[in-house]
Amino acid sequence: MCGIVGFVGNHQAAPILLDGLSKLEYRGYDSAGLAVRDGSGEIEVVKAKGRLKILSEKTNGGQALAGDCGIGHTRWATHGEPSENNAHPHCSDDGNVVGVHNGIIENYQELKDKLLRKGYQFYSQTDTEVAIKLVDYYYKKYLGTPVDAINHAMVRIRGSYALAVMFKDYPEEIYVARKDSPMILGVENGECFVASDVPAILKYTRNVYYIGNLELARLQKGSITFYNLDGDEIEKEPVEIKWDAEAAEKAGFEHFMMKEIHEQPKALQDTLNSVVRDGVIDLSEMGLSDEEIQGISQIYMVACGSAYHAAMSAQYVIEDLAKIPVRVELASEFRYRTLLLDKKGLVVLVSQSGETADTLAALREAKSMGIRTLAIVNVVGSSIAREADNVFYTLAGPEISVATTKAYSTQLLACDILAVQFAKVRGAIDEDRYKGLIAEMGTLPEKITRILQDKERLQWFASKQAAAHDVFFIGRGIDYAISLEGSLKMKEISYIHSEAYAAGELKHGTISLIEDGTLVIGILTQSDLYEKTVSNMVECKSRGAYLMGLTTYGHYNIEDTADFVTYIPKTDEHFAASLAVIPLQLIGYYVSVARGLDVDKPRNLAKSVTVE
Ligand code: F6R
Repeated sequence: MCGIVGFVGNHQAAPILLDGLSKLEYRGYDSAGLAVRDGSGEIEVVKAKGRLKILSEKTNGGQALAGDCGIGHTRWATHGEPSENNAHPHCSDDGNVVGVHNGIIENYQELKDKLLRKGYQFYSQTDTEVAIKLVDYYYKKYLGTPVDAINHAMVRIRGSYALAVMFKDYPEEIYVARKDSPMILGVENGECFVASDVPAILKYTRNVYYIGNLELARLQKGSITFYNLDGDEIEKEPVEIKWDAEAAEKAGFEHFMMKEIHEQPKALQDTLNSVVRDGVIDLSEMGLSDEEIQGISQIYMVACGSAYHAAMSAQYVIEDLAKIPVRVELASEFRYRTLLLDKKGLVVLVSQSGETADTLAALREAKSMGIRTLAIVNVVGSSIAREADNVFYTLAGPEISVATTKAYSTQLLACDILAVQFAKVRGAIDEDRYKGLIAEMGTLPEKITRILQDKERLQWFASKQAAAHDVFFIGRGIDYAISLEGSLKMKEISYIHSEAYAAGELKHGTISLIEDGTLVIGILTQSDLYEKTVSNMVECKSRGAYLMGLTTYGHYNIEDTADFVTYIPKTDEHFAASLAVIPLQLIGYYVSVARGLDVDKPRNLAKSVTVE
């Protein structure tokens, strides 16, 4: 977690650094800091606990700090409470080395003990301070260059890091190093940038370099030199970022989440267009041949959070259409148990950021066992995308709101596309059914647009639920997978306790929680399970529950049971999750707004979970 930025060029650094950090606040926002230097003067460090705006106020929007070279950080606490003392940048004892860090130094205690024995003192509880002092230690010990010192530290550090460091002896220069934490570099008009993510520098440059694992770089005005762990220079080619700069801004919506909810039709259309040509699916760019698809014995879907919920839905769709057995695994569990994976299996990792630590570790685990891996990822060039054997890029564009909406929807669609193609290649469906399913997927963007047009009704309903204490989402099959996501959307941004239950499971314990007025939301998009779920809703109603039903147009008899109903357009029921999730995202959003909460940055969370 955490976001880092750096700049060296011909403009005042601090306002540029603050601007970059404002695009990275989704990565953490419990404290922030800057280190800026004017020519060969002292390195000036300013930090503040809390949101970035406090740091901005403290530095008068950065104007209070002179100098055209600097680094910055926005923090999501791992080691040490959120405080000004623990905020980055961190400095060596004599202030000669100053740095910011995103990641976790796993052996920081062992390194700290070593440095304590060498006479170093520590003012914070962070692992970052240890890393910076370790660099300082090697810099002094070997009297070499910053690259030598960082290299020595990298060999000793276990864990993940994106580090940006300034050395007092090297004015107008920034040194960066990376292992398993995201970092991109950019150059434009004699100026250089470094950041944890593209939106932070998109305003300034579209030409970015991806720095590899265990690589370093030196940023000077207008030039970047890359090095490997031996200190040898290495060549890299810049990549042009094609994202629309506006896509990283709010475009008139009050919150990024609402903007991103409305971007779903386009995100789905773009993702579909990237693989559907002349009415058929073409996965050739992904590098999965028909022979390979035919040979898959078992699919393991591995992911975290909402991506896991997309995988849950995929399980039902793939098994039903392609007739391939699917297991869905939480990445954090997958990596820590005895894995009896079938060698002819396919491990599918689903991740918006492509940086989620558990998912990345699961990918590596699968690869080490020689199992083929396919990543469904949104961020181009992310670690998971680079390390997986095959990649299916979702084209959701940058997602800023911490609670995912459009990236989740493109994950669902990517899974559906795989299911349909696998079904066709393995002969589980005929040509007509294949073409029909692809055509049906093509109608989803327009159907989502129609659901969004009815949002005011949901806003009214959500405002009445803003004081709820507990909410239950129930459904069966795909509707259970949708319930999981609806429940997460509700609780993560509204802080209302909510649970998702397989509808038939309620009476095995949970139904005792239903009281007068408890909101129970029944999802009913699967016709063969409709009556069963209605019965479970009735069981709740007889215990006092207030019922909402979410079903497709035509199922009007639900109004005999539910107190409030919302309808979605009909679609092939395999794809129902793509439509049913939209009202649930809107309800979560509106409840959060009605409670006056910070929708885009819910407490305790960060967008990209790069720690275990
Ligand atoms: C919830 C949410 C998270 C992410 C999860 C995985 O709204 O966004 O649950 O889905 O942290 O993140 P990625 O997809 O980046 O691996």
